[in-house]
Amino acid sequence: MLTLNNVSVDIAGIPVLRSLTVALKSGATYAVLGRNGAGKTTLLRTLMGFTALRSGEIALAGQDLRSQPPYARAALGVGYAPEERVLFPTMTVLENLRLPCEAIGMADAEIATRVAEVLKIVPQMGDMLARSAAALSGGQGKMAALARALMVGTRLVMVDEPFQGLAPALARQYAEALSRMVELRPELCMVITESNRALLDRVRCTTLTLERGELSVAPAAADLAASH
Ligand SMILES: Nc1ncnc2c1ncn2[C@@H]1O[C@H](COP(=O)(O)OP(=O)(O)O)[C@@H](O)[C@H]1O
Ligand SMILES: [Mg+2]
Repeated sequence: MLTLNNVSVDIAGIPVLRSLTVALKSGATYAVLGRNGAGKTTLLRTLMGFTALRSGEIALAGQDLRSQPPYARAALGVGYAPEERVLFPTMTVLENLRLPCEAIGMADAEIATRVAEVLKIVPQMGDMLARSAAALSGGQGKMAALARALMVGTRLVMVDEPFQGLAPALARQYAEALSRMVELRPELCMVITESNRALLDRVRCTTLTLERGELSVAPAAADLAASH
């Protein structure tokens, strides 16, 4: 569904992603694990189109993404919840949810349908729609950022270190929302980054490891056990 072929990215002249080659399937959840500075955020920003490639190819469902700016990728069904949640504080939560859809010219009726669908996945947002985004706590803001990514992310949803800094109760709610997302959108491809593997205990996923800008498929738990 999403294929990367020899993708390399430099930031300020320094190689950050080195020749990544991977094929991600629809209907699957992937965790990208790597310590701080490994390049996780750079990878998601590259997939969203915020960072230029030095070389390589990226395709979504066979379509070359390289010439597509971020809004065009959103229109193709790619949603992104950045690590810094970046809600617009002067707008309500509902306005924040509608924004990426309005930016790609979606009709009002379709936006309303999507809001209703997203509320099935993140029901906590229901009571908060009319509130100013500035009034949300950090954890609530992360839930809202997930909801916003889901508004356009019908094929691919990427969330950057979602569990970082979440209180245990909110982390549980967030993980429950991710499970509902898998249930309600079985065709979705989801990419979650984390620096702390333990935070992903509640999420069923295939693990990829990003180390010094190189991506590898982590051995399955059974293989690890066998090697000890
Ligand atoms: N805007 C930037 N300017 C300079 N270096 C950057 C910038 N953004 C990221 N980097 C560098 O790129 C590398 C990868 O960063 P990042 O993708 O944020 O890693 P992670 O999300 O895994 O912590 C780091 O070495 C970081 O210092
Ligand atoms: Mg990061």
